[in-house]
Amino acid sequence: MDTIKVLDKTFRPSISAEKIEQAVAAVANKINRDYAGKEPMFVVILNGAFMFASDLMKHIDLPCTISFVKLSSYSGTSTTGQVRELIGLNADLTNKDVIIIEDIVDTGTTMHGLLPQFKAKGVNSVEICTLLNKQTAREFEDVQPKYIAIEIPNEFIVGYGLDYDQYGRNLKEIYTLNKD
Ligand code: IMP
Ligand code: MG
Repeated sequence: MDTIKVLDKTFRPSISAEKIEQAVAAVANKINRDYAGKEPMFVVILNGAFMFASDLMKHIDLPCTISFVKLSSYSGTSTTGQVRELIGLNADLTNKDVIIIEDIVDTGTTMHGLLPQFKAKGVNSVEICTLLNKQTAREFEDVQPKYIAIEIPNEFIVGYGLDYDQYGRNLKEIYTLNKD
């Protein structure tokens, strides 16, 4: 793996496809154990989580359903910052054990705004499963993903679904932005 260029920036290899594969399988197995006897409903947050979700789901051996949602790019502000709304969630969430699949939890702003929207739909439980977690960047302490595949430092990354200005999502490894 070599340094790559995405648009105007250079990125260096940081997490290999093998490491991602192992971490995804491990987190899926944890979900399999924790939800034994249940039928979780996975809600995938597009676009970033598409690749993670597809690999994760291959390791889930529970009866389950999967829905895909987007977030509005902007929907006003509140005292706690920008609140983005769920778009395209037609499924009934009443009494469901929901697992949100995210690409990355950074400051926690997105999930802080989203969790109450799930709770308002009458779920039985809701947990976050994220590919990447930037714990040191967290601004909302109430946002704590139960399932984290890989912990990363507070640096900008691309690949495996994550983008820089919409590019780089197709990369099968994860790359870190070079500071230059
Ligand atoms: P938060 O609301 O600050 O937790 O940020 C969550 C969203 O910001 C993620 O779903 C990503 O879309 C985006 N994001 C945060 N960090 C990165 C990164 O390093 N690379 C690409 N996207 C990121
Ligand atoms: Mg995202």
